[in-house]
Amino acid sequence: MADVTRRIGLSLGADVCWPICYEEIVERLKLAIPMGGDTLRFEVERLTIEPFDLRQPVRYDVVLDRLTHWYHTSREWIKKAVVMNDLYVLNNPWSIQSNEKHTSYCAMMRLGLPIPETWLLPPKEYEPAADLQVTLERYAKFFDLGKIGERVGYPHFIKPYDGGAWVGVSKIGNRAELVEAYDASGKRIMHLQSAVEPFDLFARALGVGPQVHVMKYDPAAPLHDRYKVAFDFVTAEEWQTLANLCLTINAFFGWDFNSCETLRRDGVFHPIDFANACPDSQVTSLHYHFPWLVKAKVKWSIFVAATRRKMRWNLDWAPFFEIADGDEPFPEKLKRYARLAHQRFESDRFVEFCAEHLRHVDEVTWEFFGTPTAKEAVRKKVEALFPAHEVEQFTEHFWGLIQFWRKTEGEYLGLGPERAGA
Ligand SMILES: Nc1ncnc2c1ncn2[C@@H]1O[C@H](COP(=O)(O)OP(=O)(O)OP(=O)(O)O)[C@@H](O)[C@H]1O
Ligand SMILES: [Mg+2]
Repeated sequence: MADVTRRIGLSLGADVCWPICYEEIVERLKLAIPMGGDTLRFEVERLTIEPFDLRQPVRYDVVLDRLTHWYHTSREWIKKAVVMNDLYVLNNPWSIQSNEKHTSYCAMMRLGLPIPETWLLPPKEYEPAADLQVTLERYAKFFDLGKIGERVGYPHFIKPYDGGAWVGVSKIGNRAELVEAYDASGKRIMHLQSAVEPFDLFARALGVGPQVHVMKYDPAAPLHDRYKVAFDFVTAEEWQTLANLCLTINAFFGWDFNSCETLRRDGVFHPIDFANACPDSQVTSLHYHFPWLVKAKVKWSIFVAATRRKMRWNLDWAPFFEIADGDEPFPEKLKRYARLAHQRFESDRFVEFCAEHLRHVDEVTWEFFGTPTAKEAVRKKVEALFPAHEVEQFTEHFWGLIQFWRKTEGEYLGLGPERAGA
């Protein structure tokens, strides 16, 4: 029986808080997992950026990546490591690179999800290119923006087809506003999307492998207060629907880690953005929900590294489309998509693995989030984001919400009132 080290790599940019907590929790788990006659130990390392030989070996079994969507050196290293060295990475870099918000809307429409009416517009301006003039003269049709606005209906949203972080997103109430927003959109390719209004609930579902956490969200609140500490805001059936929607799209696109936004109107959940494959993971946004995310990442990455789960290189959409093209009503289709997603995420094996090897992760996480190290991680993130005179106040604010999580989590885990309330 040999001691074998499995290495988890963190590919990071501006992330401050979750990596500190993640590293500390993995350390505190003191894992020694018997597998295949060996004892598995785990090390976490932060990846560095440097020139690399395409044939050089890779130290990691799994990489949690936060750079692929914008930092291409890291993305290309990851792609080399998947192709050459069988690396498992959260998330599939090809899928992130090529499946933007636009493709996710198309996929969800094909699968029968109630996506609001959405149009794509050619851009207002172009980067000069050799064949541009002749191409546009021959083939670009003049169009009446006002007519498209009426087809989509007011109010609607104009937003980049591949957007993120609310950049270039405007709510449009009439033709004049639409013309103004389109004129200002420059070289971006934009969508017009019918507004889901009035909605009575905005929910975000965060998925990590087969694990889903559903949160109430208020887009109008200041950044630090958008995720709500709310319980019982959906029925058990609605929760299942939201979880199934999230798992379906994540499995469809090979995204192990994604955040899915839906609006409820008249009892129906309308997805408006399921393409967030590098979701906000900061304590300054997630606060109460932050420990759930860190723990979910720990569990899934340890499972992947320990079992040497194979990454899905190709997305294989055919089984989803077979269900989509059938005659069943949508709720039945959604259940079948979700079953497919559970197969792809090996949910049963994951649950068994956690029960056998990660029994203590709940308590270790709960304990860790009461330590000075955890508080320091919060403070560091607050320092990076807030002006100096607000650091103390907001550190206490987020820390207080994490302590409230400890109280509810402690009660849920039955850790006993004196410990849970400590
Ligand atoms: N069809 C819609 N109906 C109602 N509200 C919408 C719609 N589309 C967008 N919004 C609003 O605009 C916000 C930003 O839109 P969207 O999520 O598509 O852009 P984003 O740039 O990806 O933002 P984020 O980074 O928050 O995900 C949403 O959180 C929501 O409040
Ligand atoms: Mg969004």
